[in-house]
Amino acid sequence: MPTWSGNSDSRKSDVMKDPLRETDGVKVGKRQRVLLTKLFPPAVELRAARDFDAILNPQDRKYGNTLPAAAAGCDALMVSGGDVLSRSIVDALPKSVRIIASFSAGFENFDLDALRERGIVVTNAPDHLSEATADITMLLLLAAARRAHEGQALVREGRWPAIGGPTTLLLGQEICGRRLGILGMGRIGRAVARRAHGFGLQVHYHNRRRLSAAQEAGAIYCEHADDLLRVSDFFVINAPLNDMTRYFLDARRIALLPDGAVVVNAGRGGIVHDPSLIAALRSGKVFAAGLDVFEGEPQVNPEYFGLTNVFMLPHLGSATVATRNAMGFCALDNLDAYFSGRPVLNPLI
Ligand code: 8YV
Repeated sequence: MPTWSGNSDSRKSDVMKDPLRETDGVKVGKRQRVLLTKLFPPAVELRAARDFDAILNPQDRKYGNTLPAAAAGCDALMVSGGDVLSRSIVDALPKSVRIIASFSAGFENFDLDALRERGIVVTNAPDHLSEATADITMLLLLAAARRAHEGQALVREGRWPAIGGPTTLLLGQEICGRRLGILGMGRIGRAVARRAHGFGLQVHYHNRRRLSAAQEAGAIYCEHADDLLRVSDFFVINAPLNDMTRYFLDARRIALLPDGAVVVNAGRGGIVHDPSLIAALRSGKVFAAGLDVFEGEPQVNPEYFGLTNVFMLPHLGSATVATRNAMGFCALDNLDAYFSGRPVLNPLI
């Protein structure tokens, strides 16, 4: 397959804009060998195979502890947020691996200290999934508030009452005029806030640091997380998983929520203490939950399955064609920059 002539930025930028366009040059020098640890979108794999000596993973098998052996002779890895780069795996990686480009924004599974000690460059893709993930966040909020899971089941199972249902059928929670609390007001949280204004929600947020007035865009800052919980008719998690946020939503904090609150998690599963949320869903303290991420995913706490007031998705936050392509192209752009001797675009260390 034809590849590149030289490293002219103009040619490279063209191809980066349109990864499916054939080039008629010949790439100077050896083609770096890159192991793709996941099955990535077709357009991403096409570009990877054109620009690199790419080892694809068509069965999307999980490498786990076999990653170091699979990476033999590779110059780079292209990974995703679900790949565990523990110290033992990092220390066993071949010396040939000089850069690891992640397709994901999240990197909680990467031992950055071990990677730094190995001198391996690590990049992520933080700038491309905010809008898609904010869309899913609002979907979860609406579905939980308006009992979409129960409504879907009632229609599909033929249980919809013949006369179209009583006036009290599946009554849900009003959204307009209510209070939304956002934990984590980064790119995704701010995109959620923009959408929330359109639904007539009053936005409150808690963040590690207060945003500028422009970034707040009218949202109300809660310096203490407990204060955010107290005003959250709808409590939305858009935060990353770290030592500060792990099991943040526990029984104590759930008790601070208004009675009948709706909980949404589009951040990371480990931020919610599942037994506490399940108990609150059962008692009605929490009216409903919308969950896109789960601790231990793809395994899900089976206690959720018996609850009708939980709307669940399989980590679809960034799952659109355009967004997942953009994330993959970003990872490849980072590899291109590194191997062209330019600074990488999204360094993690
Ligand atoms: C991806 C994500 O679904 O980028 C992230 O951090 O959680 C999602 O966009 C995930 O990385 C795919 O493994």
